[in-house]
Amino acid sequence: MSESTPAVAARSKIGVVGAGSVGTSLAYAALIRGAARDVALYDLNPDKVRAEALDLAHGTMFTPGSRVTGSDDVAVLAGSDVVLITAGAKQRPGQTRMDLAGANAAILEGLLPRLLEQAPDAVYVLVTNPCDVLTVVAQRISGLPSSRVLASGTVLDTSRLRWLLAEEGGVSTTSVHATIVGEHGDSEFPLWSSANIGQVPLREWSVDGRRPFTEERLAQLTDQVVNAAYTVIAGKGATNYAIGLAGVRVAEAVIGDEHAVLPVSTVLEDYRGISGVALSVPSVVARQGVVELLRVPMDAQELTLLHRSAEAIRRTLETIGH
Ligand code: 2OP
Repeated sequence: MSESTPAVAARSKIGVVGAGSVGTSLAYAALIRGAARDVALYDLNPDKVRAEALDLAHGTMFTPGSRVTGSDDVAVLAGSDVVLITAGAKQRPGQTRMDLAGANAAILEGLLPRLLEQAPDAVYVLVTNPCDVLTVVAQRISGLPSSRVLASGTVLDTSRLRWLLAEEGGVSTTSVHATIVGEHGDSEFPLWSSANIGQVPLREWSVDGRRPFTEERLAQLTDQVVNAAYTVIAGKGATNYAIGLAGVRVAEAVIGDEHAVLPVSTVLEDYRGISGVALSVPSVVARQGVVELLRVPMDAQELTLLHRSAEAIRRTLETIGH
C-alpha cells in the first residue's frame, strides 16, 4: 500500500455521498491530497451540505488545486470517476457494524439507481457499514460488474495494524508489510504468515536484541485492531479521519490507474472456494476498479478464518433477505 501523494489529475472527479463526519473527512482528505480535480459532496440536507462545501472551499488556497462543490441535488455528482458512499445510519456505542445492515441496505436501494443515472461509468466504493454486506447488495441492485463495486474494506484496518507494528518495531509504517483481510468488522484477521518488516519475517524482527512479536503479542495486536473502531467510538462517538484517508487512497488508485495492491472488498467468485459474498483480500486497484485478486499465501489457520469471515457476512445477508 503506497502513501504517495499523486499530482492532481486533469478532469478527474470524486463524488462523496453524505456530508456527515465521514463524508466531509473524505472530502477534506481528497482536497489535501490532491486526489482529484473536482470533489463533489451530495447530501439531503441543503444547508448542511452547502456549508460544508463552503468551509472546504475556503481552504483550497492551501491545497494542490482542487475545486469543491456541494448540493442536495444529486446532479452535483454527474460525471464522477469514483463515488464514495457514506450515507446511512452510523454505529453507536455498543453496536456492531452488522447491526446496521437492514437499515443501510434499505437506504442504498433507494439511493443507488439515482447515483447510477448521474455517474454511470464510475467505480463505486462503499464506505457505509457493514461495507462488505452492502457491497453485495449494491452489486446486485446496480448490475455492474463486481470489479466496479467495492468497499474500502480492510484498507483502514490494515493501516491501523501497520501503525501499531511500526510503533513497536521502531520503523516507518511504509516499511511494514502486513495486511488485514476478511470482513471489515469483528471477524477480520491479519495475515501473519506473510507479514514482514523490510523483508524480515515479522516473528524474527528484533529490537535491542529482543523479539517483540511473540505469539502472545501478535494476538494482542489483532485484538487492538479488531477493537480499534469501538475504542474510538467510545471516546468520540464516531471514527472519521482515518477512514477519510483510507477511502481517498482507494479513490486515488482508481483515478491514477495505479494498479496498486490494496485490501478492498469485492464480491468474490471462487476465491479460495468462496463465492457470492464480498470481503477484503489483497486486490489490484486500477481505473476499471478491481482488476485482479491476489492469491497471497495463507496458512491453514488463515484459510479457516477467511471462510469464517465469509460465513459471518453470508449470515447477515440472509438475515436482511439478500
Ligand atoms: C471504522 O472502522 C467504524 O468502520 C468504521 O472506523
